[in-house]
Amino acid sequence: MFYVFPNPQAIAEYVSGLLIAQIQKKNNAVLGLATGSTMEPVYAKLCEQVAQQNVDVSGLTTFNLDEYIGLGSDHPQSYRYYMRQHLFNRLAFVQHRTFLPDGLCADSLQQCEQYSRQIQQAGHIDLQLLGIGNNGHIGFNEPGTSFASRTHVVPLTEQTRIDNSRFFDSLDEVPTQAITLGLQDIMESKQIILIATGTNKAQIMAELYESPVSEQLPASVIKSHPNALVLLDELAAQFLPADLCNVAVV
Ligand code: GLP
Repeated sequence: MFYVFPNPQAIAEYVSGLLIAQIQKKNNAVLGLATGSTMEPVYAKLCEQVAQQNVDVSGLTTFNLDEYIGLGSDHPQSYRYYMRQHLFNRLAFVQHRTFLPDGLCADSLQQCEQYSRQIQQAGHIDLQLLGIGNNGHIGFNEPGTSFASRTHVVPLTEQTRIDNSRFFDSLDEVPTQAITLGLQDIMESKQIILIATGTNKAQIMAELYESPVSEQLPASVIKSHPNALVLLDELAAQFLPADLCNVAVV
């Protein structure tokens, strides 16, 4: 389940290949997308390979994991803005099939129910990409979130706000709440790929490696998924027992 690659570029190349294989197998596939700096090389490589190989992405439906409450789609730190910049505006995605929660929606609860339902109606996510927070969150499911959770509103922990403040001018500007896909929604995906790169993910990846499946470490839930991969670069894998990791063939 744990695979170590030499660097983030090698992971990007591998994951881009998996995404393209998924699209070629099912041109109306449903992709679960993530944001964050970890995904940037993946989306850059995907854009490059889709163009080179002339892959048709126009049949795809996408659901993003999360969005900040209070940020509109034109705010540069909103996840809708990120997705437009890194993927949606660069390939021929059909706009109305690219779903993200709306950070300005007046009725968040109703929106949450609708979001989980839309994923179910789309036949569930075929391939879900995940990053990981330093406290083990996936999406914005913070430690202690129920494994039975559906899309919900979350107060962000101080740690997550501090971690994400690097993208904002100051900590005060980081929203205090977000909408996230729930852990049960994520687990209903047919395949899950969690990616972690860089030294600042080394500690949490060692914890994830050793942890039993526990709500105190939300990412650990994917250890009970039948088709999940955890891909690390050498820096993120530095505290894992080397002999127990599969070294990726690249
Ligand atoms: C945010 C997102 C997560 C993401 C995490 C790690 O909190 N909600 O989905 O996995 O950041 O981001 P990065 O890849 O920038 O380390």
